[in-house]
Amino acid sequence: MSVPVAVLVSGSGTNLQALIDATQEPDHPARIAVVLADRPKAFGLERARRAGIPTAVVLKRDHPVRASYDEALVAALREHGVEWVCLAGFMKLVGAPLLEAFPDRILNIHPALLPSFPGLHGPAQALGYGVQIAGATVHVVDAGTDTGPIVAQGAVPVLPSDDEDTLAGRILSGVEHVIYPRALRWAAEGRLRVVRDQPRARVVVDGDAERFVFAAG
Ligand code: GRF
Repeated sequence: MSVPVAVLVSGSGTNLQALIDATQEPDHPARIAVVLADRPKAFGLERARRAGIPTAVVLKRDHPVRASYDEALVAALREHGVEWVCLAGFMKLVGAPLLEAFPDRILNIHPALLPSFPGLHGPAQALGYGVQIAGATVHVVDAGTDTGPIVAQGAVPVLPSDDEDTLAGRILSGVEHVIYPRALRWAAEGRLRVVRDQPRARVVVDGDAERFVFAAG
């Protein structure tokens, strides 16, 4: 039996597409039960429709109070019986009702090598700092912004000719689309554990797991 998951998007949804493609492989342990967006025009919704995946839109303006927006998200997720939630370019902060409904079961992908450059515009922050290696991180979501324990990371070189778009594109296609499906597989296989006996919470992946990729070009 495959594990039902939700993917939450606000935009283009190339990570969603990578997750759709991976979960359509016959041996994949997860299936995307619903794609949820906060914007009716998010192209990710179209990707879901093309793949025959149910969609839902939860608008912030229908839920002006922050907690009630999260509760509406939780209701939509429960309706589809999902066990894991993947944020994939979802531009809303996750509040307590959602975190409490899916404890340690919400994943996010961020376009930087955390803990460096959390928040918006990770690739631009990396360029501005002059780092020579950039990348992406899949992490378990906690109450902070991009602060949750790390599941997998991928690195790419920063080239002298890079601008924000070229670097963001290299990060997306070079590593994001590789590490997110991999992390979802581990999640659905029940291999992700958050260990809290350290100074910080950490993720342990049971069994063999390549938790780091480097994409040279
Ligand atoms: C990605 O860079 C992801 O890391 C960030 O938002 C972007 C979403 O891109 N959280 P896409 O919609 O998956 O193409």
